[in-house]
Amino acid sequence: MHQPVMTGAIVSFLVRDPRGAYLDLTVGAGGHIKALSAGLKSSARLYGLDKDPEAAAVARKETAACAQTVRIEHATYADVRKVVAGFPDTTFDGVLLDLGLSSLQLDDAGRGFSFQSDGPLDMRFNQKADGMTAAEIIQTYSEQELTHIFRSYGEERQAARIAKAIITERDKTPIQTTARLTEIITNVVHPPYQHKACARIFMALRIAVNRELETLQQALPNIFSVVKQGGRLAVIPYHSLEDRIVKRFFQQEAKGCICPPELPVCVCGHTPSALIITRKSVVPDDKEIAENPRARSARLRVLERIAE
Ligand SMILES: C[S@@+](CC[C@H](N)C(=O)[O-])C[C@H]1O[C@@H](n2cnc3c(N)ncnc32)[C@H](O)[C@@H]1O
Repeated sequence: MHQPVMTGAIVSFLVRDPRGAYLDLTVGAGGHIKALSAGLKSSARLYGLDKDPEAAAVARKETAACAQTVRIEHATYADVRKVVAGFPDTTFDGVLLDLGLSSLQLDDAGRGFSFQSDGPLDMRFNQKADGMTAAEIIQTYSEQELTHIFRSYGEERQAARIAKAIITERDKTPIQTTARLTEIITNVVHPPYQHKACARIFMALRIAVNRELETLQQALPNIFSVVKQGGRLAVIPYHSLEDRIVKRFFQQEAKGCICPPELPVCVCGHTPSALIITRKSVVPDDKEIAENPRARSARLRVLERIAE
């Protein structure tokens, strides 16, 4: 089962009103919802979304015993405003965004997220929706595009060599499985870097398939708009590019004057809409990382909505 990260910190940062409304935008296996539930009165309301229909179904089962009313929907957080318009609560005391993928997805070979088991190169969070699979990206993107994805999303130094090998191999036979892609990467990269290179290339492809960075960037303003005054948004990024997007958004919301720097006096009258609660991101302790290796790249950032 998926082990949720930094549950203690999430509950203590997010729960301001024990009778309030809380929204988990990436509900996964429901671990964070269950932790929040334990810290709330029975009159509180809990809501969860997941883009993956299988995750939403698991979360529904996992949270069935919670004392509060829990409502889980299969939806993307990009549609947060539309989705919450149909809920009894439309603004929330606490909103959580735990990015990346869950162990349930990683461990299911049929989803194609892992280089450690063989399966179709899919990697879509929602297999029922349109959108390119990892195999389609591998088969159709140019060498430059593949290099760019591997370098920027995967931070892989041998991005260009791996992309070149993929182009050579795909012209002979289409690359359709995780095992075949892993074989191509390990033929190009020398030990002891093979494992890391496979992990980075697979992560890069997953980010590209699901347009994770674009979705996050575009959705953050809408997500923050459903946080009540005095309520909080907690985000857990696992990747430096995600973290940068979150950090910049927080800084922009917390900023007063937004006049161009060359103006000698402020003419915009802009006031901050938020207070950054975590000046530096919060990281899991060594004990948590030892127990749950997935936690090692997690960072937690928290923003509070203030009166404008
Ligand atoms: C790290 S897991 C969340 C685990 C969860 N916090 C728990 O405690 O079990 C991330 C989840 O986000 C989901 N996800 C990814 N992109 C999404 C999106 N755009 N909208 C909603 N859910 C998304 C994934 O399907 C995955 O289940």
